[in-house]
Parts: sequence; structure tokens; C-alpha cells
Amino acid sequence: DIKGTSLRIILDSRGNKTVEATVILNSGAEGICSAPAGASTGATEVIPFRDGRAEESLNFFERNVRESLKGFNGFNQTGFDNLLKNIDGTENFSSMGGNVSTALSIALAKAVSKELGIPMYRYAGGNFRMKAPKPIGNVIGGGKHAINGTTFQEFLVSNDSSSFLEAIEVNALVHKRIGQKAKDIMKNVSIGVGDERAWVLSISDEQAMQLLKDSANEIAKEKKVKVYLGFDAAASSFYEKGKYVYKEKKRDQGEQIQYIIDAHKNYGFYYMEDPMDEADFEGHAEITKAIGKNALIVGDDLYTTNASRIRKGIETKATNGVLIKVNQIGTLTDTWDAVKTATSASMENVISHRSGETTDDFIAHLSLAFSSTFIKSGTIGGERLAKLNELVRLQEEIEH
Ligand code: PGA
Ligand code: ZN
Repeated sequence: DIKGTSLRIILDSRGNKTVEATVILNSGAEGICSAPAGASTGATEVIPFRDGRAEESLNFFERNVRESLKGFNGFNQTGFDNLLKNIDGTENFSSMGGNVSTALSIALAKAVSKELGIPMYRYAGGNFRMKAPKPIGNVIGGGKHAINGTTFQEFLVSNDSSSFLEAIEVNALVHKRIGQKAKDIMKNVSIGVGDERAWVLSISDEQAMQLLKDSANEIAKEKKVKVYLGFDAAASSFYEKGKYVYKEKKRDQGEQIQYIIDAHKNYGFYYMEDPMDEADFEGHAEITKAIGKNALIVGDDLYTTNASRIRKGIETKATNGVLIKVNQIGTLTDTWDAVKTATSASMENVISHRSGETTDDFIAHLSLAFSSTFIKSGTIGGERLAKLNELVRLQEEIEH
């Protein structure tokens, strides 16, 4: 049973306040989890903090949550997650804050795993596979993660190396190569990185695509691996009054669909996340129909890890992939529900970090529990590598 829970405020990688929960069982087994934070959040995500403030959520926890969790059977993860929802009493965790429920829910799973003496991936979901996912990470960034970057939020890279260590190294090498090339192209211009440490360059989206392709090709040759290209357009973040607003021009729905299909054809993009606005299931479906056989179209803001939205995506054939972020839905149980819904329709899932992160590595474990095709967690930076390096360790354990 649960002996006690506590909650504290810590800082995330952007220097913003977030929450960290501790759950202690009667046996003394302890689980700690901190919640990340998004910048380009989906409209249908749960609310991260009560009144938008970590302090308000902490107060709510002290007043209404802590006592109610005492003595609860820790092995009943679903019951615990439902209890959190009942205490909250809203549809979107706006009383407690979805970051509080996320931290508590995952902290419980960690505590129980510890009590059982097994790693968390063997406990969470109960359907782990003995194969590491492929890392996918952003190397050029813009949108809401940067100042004056590209219109697309993320240009991503992945590769087919079966060694997870080599796979993350290849991604990091592409990141490095892009930096070197950018230095040559943009003489006497300062270059920086965005929230997830992808390069922020004042170039057009097409120039970014070419730079990505050239750099990836070079590294692929040098390291003798196949490199996959991707992007997260995060299209809702530049969708205004029915148009996709780029620096140079505006595109309507039909033009945006064609632009995405052309990007796939001209640059060989395999992974394409949120290419259309988050309300546009039909637009996504047109893209998937056109190129879904050769590419993974992934819904992030489109689904917000919500099983009923994923069901709508299945019915409308909107995408063949889904992004998974626990704090978009607020509990491990509902996240698992989203994954099962997607998997039952042969949709691939991609477990993901948020742009504001902590050093917590729980998504590394969930990537195995959920049999994720990819783990999206950047390419460099301590809070990104906390997850990736954990998978280097876990791969030793599962594949040997
Ligand atoms: P967020 O964005 O964490 O800032 O919401 C990441 C993404 O869109 O994948
Ligand atoms: Zn996204």
C-alpha cells in the first residue's frame, strides 16, 4: 500500500517551474517522477497546472490529494489513476493540473517496479518487447521552440543502426555536420540553438531541408548506415484564419497538402508529424492516402495521446502513426489506453519528450513497454540524453 506521497516544485530545462512527485510504499520502495512541459501544446491536451501555475497545483495537492492517496493499493495502477481523476473532478485535470497527475502516476509505477525488483519497462503496460526503438531527434528547429527560426518546428534525423549507442551518435554527428555547414554558409552570423538544442538558422524551410539532406547523406556514407529524414511541422502553430502562414507566402489546405507531398518526394522525408492543423483529420487523411505506404505520418497535436481522438483518426484513416506524451492525457493508464487503441489498428507509436524537459528518463522505459517504433528525444543536451543514455543501458539488458 501507499505509505505516503509528496510533491515539490523544481525547474525544467527552460528554467520554468514544474513538479516532481515522490511515492513511498509501505515496504519502503520509492518512486520519483518529474513532469515535462510543452510550448506548442495541442488544444485538446489536459491543463498542466491549476490556473497555469505550479504553486497553485502544489496547494491543491496539499489540500485535496495527499491524504486521499494514503493507504491505497499501489498495485492497482488503474484504480490509482482513476482516483486522481475523481479527486480532480474535471475532464482535463484543470483542478489538479495534468503535470501533477502525470508525476504521481509514473512515480507510483516506478515505486511498484522497485518493490517487485524489476525495471519499470517490465511493469508499465506489461507488453514490453526485447528490442530498442530507433532514436529520432531534431537538428534544425524553429516554430515555437526558437526565435526567428524556420516555420516548421523541427527537422529530424534517425537511422537504422541496430546499436542504440551508434544510432544516437549518428544523429549527433548529423547535428554537428549541420552546424559546420551552417557556419560556412552564413559567414559572420551568430548561430544558436532552440529549446531542444536543434540549430536555429535564419534560412527558409527549403534551405533547411536541403541542408538536412546534404548533411545526412554525408554522415550516412561515412558511417555506412541508412539515415531517415523527418520533420514536425507543428502546423497548428502557424495556421491562421484558414491559411498556413509561411514567411514567404500563405498556403490554403490544398496547397499545404501538396507542399507536404512534394517535400516527401523532393527530399525523401520518411517521418512527418502534424503536417496539417490539429482539427483537420481529412487533410491528414489525404496525405496518408497519397504517401502513407512509404512514409510515417504522425499525429501529435492531432491526437494529444487521447484514445477517443485516436479512434477518430482510425475511422478517418488520418495517419499511420501517433505521438505519445504522458502529460498530454495525464495518467499512465490513459496513455496505455491510447497506445493500445493505436496498436490495435496497426498504427505505429512514437514516444516523445517535451520541449521543456527534466532529467527524468521514464520515456526510455515506456518506449519498451509500448513497443514504440521511435523515441523522440532530441540529439544532444543532458535532459535529452538522460533518456537516450538510459536506452543504451537498457539495450544491454534486453538484447543480450
Ligand atoms: P512541445 O512540442 O513539447 O513544445 O509541445 C513538441 C512537439 O510538438 O513534438
Ligand atoms: Zn509535435
